[in-house]
Amino acid sequence: GATANARPGKKSLVDKIRSLNNEKQLIIFFGSQTGTAEDLATRVATECTKQYSLPALVCDPEEYDASEIAAWMTEEKETGEEAKVMFGFFMATYGEGEPTDNAADFYDWIMGGTGKGDDEGDEEIDDDELMDSEALSGMPYIAFALGNKTYEHYNAVGRRLDKRLARLGAVRVGALGEGDDDESMEEDFLKWKTTAMLEIAKHFKLDVTASGTQRDAPHVPLFEMVQAHEIDRQQIYFGEHSAKKPRRWSSSQESGNDNSGVRYEEIAKAATVDAKHPHYSRIARSAPLFVDVHDEYGFDSNLRLPKPGHKRYQVGACKVRIERHCLHVDLDIAGSGLKYVTGDHVGVWPVNDDEHVDRLAKALHLTDQERDSVVVLKPNAANMSAANAKLPFPAPCAIRTALASYLEVSACVKQHQLEVLAKYATDPTERDTLFALSENRERYVATIEKSRKDFAEVLEAFPSVAIPVAVVLGELLPRIAVRYYSISSSSLEEPDKVGITAVMVRYAIPSCHPAHRPEDKEHDSVVIKQGLATSWLQRLHEERTETATSCDLPSAHDEPLPLPRFHLPMYIRTSTFKLPKNPRLPVVMVGPGTGVAPFRAFVRERFFLAKTRPDIQVGATWLFYGCRHPDKDFLYRDEFEAMQKAVGAGEVKLDLKIITAFSRWEGHDKKYVQHRVQEHAAQVWDMVGVQGGSFYICGDAKHMAHDVNATLGNIAYNNGAMNSLEQGKAWVKELKTKGRYLEDVWA
Ligand code: FAD
Ligand code: 2AM
Repeated sequence: GATANARPGKKSLVDKIRSLNNEKQLIIFFGSQTGTAEDLATRVATECTKQYSLPALVCDPEEYDASEIAAWMTEEKETGEEAKVMFGFFMATYGEGEPTDNAADFYDWIMGGTGKGDDEGDEEIDDDELMDSEALSGMPYIAFALGNKTYEHYNAVGRRLDKRLARLGAVRVGALGEGDDDESMEEDFLKWKTTAMLEIAKHFKLDVTASGTQRDAPHVPLFEMVQAHEIDRQQIYFGEHSAKKPRRWSSSQESGNDNSGVRYEEIAKAATVDAKHPHYSRIARSAPLFVDVHDEYGFDSNLRLPKPGHKRYQVGACKVRIERHCLHVDLDIAGSGLKYVTGDHVGVWPVNDDEHVDRLAKALHLTDQERDSVVVLKPNAANMSAANAKLPFPAPCAIRTALASYLEVSACVKQHQLEVLAKYATDPTERDTLFALSENRERYVATIEKSRKDFAEVLEAFPSVAIPVAVVLGELLPRIAVRYYSISSSSLEEPDKVGITAVMVRYAIPSCHPAHRPEDKEHDSVVIKQGLATSWLQRLHEERTETATSCDLPSAHDEPLPLPRFHLPMYIRTSTFKLPKNPRLPVVMVGPGTGVAPFRAFVRERFFLAKTRPDIQVGATWLFYGCRHPDKDFLYRDEFEAMQKAVGAGEVKLDLKIITAFSRWEGHDKKYVQHRVQEHAAQVWDMVGVQGGSFYICGDAKHMAHDVNATLGNIAYNNGAMNSLEQGKAWVKELKTKGRYLEDVWA
């Protein structure tokens, strides 16, 4: 047989398959950044087990050495049997056509060290070990690619992987699924899944007669919830995200100007801080950058939606007041061993607010005592998937901790989850409605998805649903996903601080009772929703301001204690969005709104360098910045103006320009950043096209980045003696290949 030889730090896949020792087995790998690919992979696995009794395992390639699939195929070939293991690949594409962090190693291996090439996967690989050995010949697999059409390299990773697998002799079962997160991920997935399930059954010669939704079959929970009695306090999790470590409070030597003086310490420091092992950093400073009250269109002031047909029903005719906030937060990483480089991202794990936690706990009929009880989840042997069930959060912990720190309580209820709720409804009408919602996509979208209803809201609307807490905690609520922010501080100037520039996500949406039909507009109202991470940052900021002088933090002692407030679980994610190595080269930056975040860092860094090292002669530093109004949402205006003043007075020698575009300034034309870039075409061409400078874009991926890209192509055509616009576009593409056109964009 093949030898299991897993890479260091990873579990052996071959050993795992052998230990499972199943006649038929599905093993699905996922490449997931925010959890969607993992969720879809798990749904397929669960369905295969439930409907076909086909054992299915979902594997994180970061945990299991996926490169052992080659070793496994050798073993299967030796036995001469028909392949008993089918593999699955649910792969998301990120950024510039890159794999997700957890799949990076695996992708690198399978692509023969080069995952780039064109989006169809027609790359040339020299020295290709895998190819020579036809390593995966005969390997059956299913594949689903996840991406976002807003980005240039739509589903590049999934498509390239699929092509590569075929070249290595693997045989795809069913079609390559492709999901678009911008428009229709769930629809794309469901459409693909229906046929994929049949193809899987056909491949394994499985009986499919029992398939389909079985309304009367009771739901078998994946986990049971067990009280953790007489538990040592040291073992309880209070919101930490990594493996258990001794913790304590200690006195800080630093005399911070906030409520610190006491800091939370992990005695045994994590060897590495990464996406799964955060560092708990203290907020050193938080300050609002602007607060702006604006009117959101569509609704009247008492939050009722006017009747359809009414003239006020037109978009923009009636309004809801919404406050816009933007916040700057500095995290203190002194003494942590953490390092960052200007342009990197910081990932943070947010915490839910008490209001949302309490509302869900109430909807689940949990008493205060139950909320505080310390529990563990145990796989339920009656569920066939239990053997491979992954615990959804660190335990033992209080139910309240799970709801506050580990699970996204305000996540929108997914359509397939309504089937589970329906099975626990004791009222026949509620049961029928929930089943109807779980089966009718249009109705679900109109009444649940559009208004992003969470579990508390749905349970309140269907009070007869008596669902065990273990099902909600263990199966329904997604784990809180890391939120990324482009670091807005300069590592050269402030190596011990990580700056975040976050604009509050707050929006109004029409909402109707889920039991009503979408056409029953009479019952509509409006709800105001908030983003999880941004509202948490805002809350921390407000609490800090209120408690800055009279804080209730404990004095230093060695007892393990709950995680202190104002300590954020975070890690640094390295990025390729970097200033040129040679500071003499010019940089042109385009960043409207919060897109300015990394450019605040870039500008500060270049200014700092020019000030402290006048011998270097830092190159031209031009920022195109856009916002609505110069007096309302102009981020870092004071800082930029102060730097410009210093430059103007000759105190610092630097060609620094902040060129603004205001889009909602009464009495002025609406201007966007790309208009300003166009107005400065000759200089932009000189800096980038002639002097060899770099061009950067940050912010909204959907429209702005495309528009600015097109503008640059146009500038190249008009200024670079090119024959056609096509040539201009090709020039921009080449600039990208050279690493001198960099984007840091998010949808
Ligand atoms: P969530 O709770 O995640 O809610 C956001 C969701 O709410 C949206 O996905 C959407 O489904 C829904 N939603 C939002 N608005 C509406 C609406 N009007 N109608 C209906 N639904 C709506 N953000 C910054 O502020 N600054 C940065 O520097 C920054 N840098 C980033 C860098 C990277 C690499 C990435 C990937 C993202 C970056 N972001 C940045 C975005 C940031 O990560 C978060 O996504 C953002 O702050 C929202 O998080 P949240 O938890 O508050 O919102
Ligand atoms: P708006 O007033 O039309 O929303 C930050 O969000 C700034 O970016 C705002 O001034 C906003 O203008 C502007 N903006 C919106 N869409 C844009 C686009 N496609 N290109 C450039 N800027 C845009």
